[in-house]
Amino acid sequence: MNILVTGGAGYIGSHTIRILLEQGHKVVVIDDLSTGYREALPDDVVFLQGSFDDPTLLGLAWGEYKVEAVFHFAASINVEESKRQPFKYFENNFLRTMRLLENMQKHDIGKLIFSSTSCVYLESETPVTEEAPKLPHNPYGQSKLMCEWLIQSLQKSWPNFRYTALRYFNVAGAEPDGSNGQIYPQAPHLIKRSSQAALGKIADFKIYGTDYNTADGTCIRDYVHVKDVALAHAASLNYLLQGGPSDTFNCGYKKGFSVREVVEMMQEISPRQFDVRFGPRRPGDPSQLIADNQKIISKLGWIPQYNDLKMICKSALDWEAKIH
Ligand SMILES: NC(=O)c1ccc[n+]([C@@H]2O[C@H](COP(=O)([O-])OP(=O)(O)OC[C@H]3O[C@@H](n4cnc5c(N)ncnc54)[C@H](O)[C@@H]3O)[C@@H](O)[C@H]2O)c1
Repeated sequence: MNILVTGGAGYIGSHTIRILLEQGHKVVVIDDLSTGYREALPDDVVFLQGSFDDPTLLGLAWGEYKVEAVFHFAASINVEESKRQPFKYFENNFLRTMRLLENMQKHDIGKLIFSSTSCVYLESETPVTEEAPKLPHNPYGQSKLMCEWLIQSLQKSWPNFRYTALRYFNVAGAEPDGSNGQIYPQAPHLIKRSSQAALGKIADFKIYGTDYNTADGTCIRDYVHVKDVALAHAASLNYLLQGGPSDTFNCGYKKGFSVREVVEMMQEISPRQFDVRFGPRRPGDPSQLIADNQKIISKLGWIPQYNDLKMICKSALDWEAKIH
């Protein structure tokens, strides 16, 4: 099948592409390289540089490259930046997605796999199911939830349209064989930043908030290996191809680790010790978010293969050392 991957030069998109190619699909990527990298793409994909709502590029995807399904990863993803620059987030994540969907509808390209996020949820002391209350606290999460609402509403007016929305939890790690990983140096994620700190690439590594109502006072998150997230996309496509109805799925391991536990793991495997500073809470950070993953396992047949914090941290650290 011919598949359009928006944001394919980014972290999760580039890992997913490798699995799609292994499964015999043909891939067209639209990416503006704002946080993505041309070198993250395998040679055998068609690369169109520009914005994912550009009608000329989309026309090429549907016409010349006969795309039938869209994996929509492209977005701005930094929660802290979204609080300072909300227009950027509502425009890039919501308005452009609206234009992409309008263009897809015009050409009746009716299969979508959408990258959503655990940021749509209100915090919870127990693992959240897909039905748990939604209350995103920042423009990033809000823009993603708005996309979900739009996608759900299209369902009613567009008979050929079916989608899955995957709400990933905290995506981390790199290809275990060292062939791919997260390149963007300003990526804000804990495991990326702590591996940069472990290698002396950054000096200001900080834990935000030590007074949360958790066992060690730091936030708890569900860290899911990027290859398992990529496998969830392949499972989503099979599900849609087999006629599965549109649905939304959590993508996480149903296992939480505190920020302190992750940092201790990184210190344990790191070749050198690194300084950790402590700062105040960041407003809007929920104390705990863990996925209930029953639905993705039972309905998509997702079988996680890399559910091991040490392996996740080690693969990220090895990758970080490799890219210098
Ligand atoms: N990384 C995580 O932990 C995480 C968690 C939940 C959800 N997500 C979602 O997963 C998706 C991918 O995230 P990622 O971690 O790979 O981020 P990333 O920044 O590595 O990838 C995003 C890609 O989109 C591209 N892009 C951004 N705006 C674009 C535009 N207007 N036109 C074309 N390309 C554009 C960037 O250049 C980049 O290659 C995002 O939608 C994000 O919201 C990520």
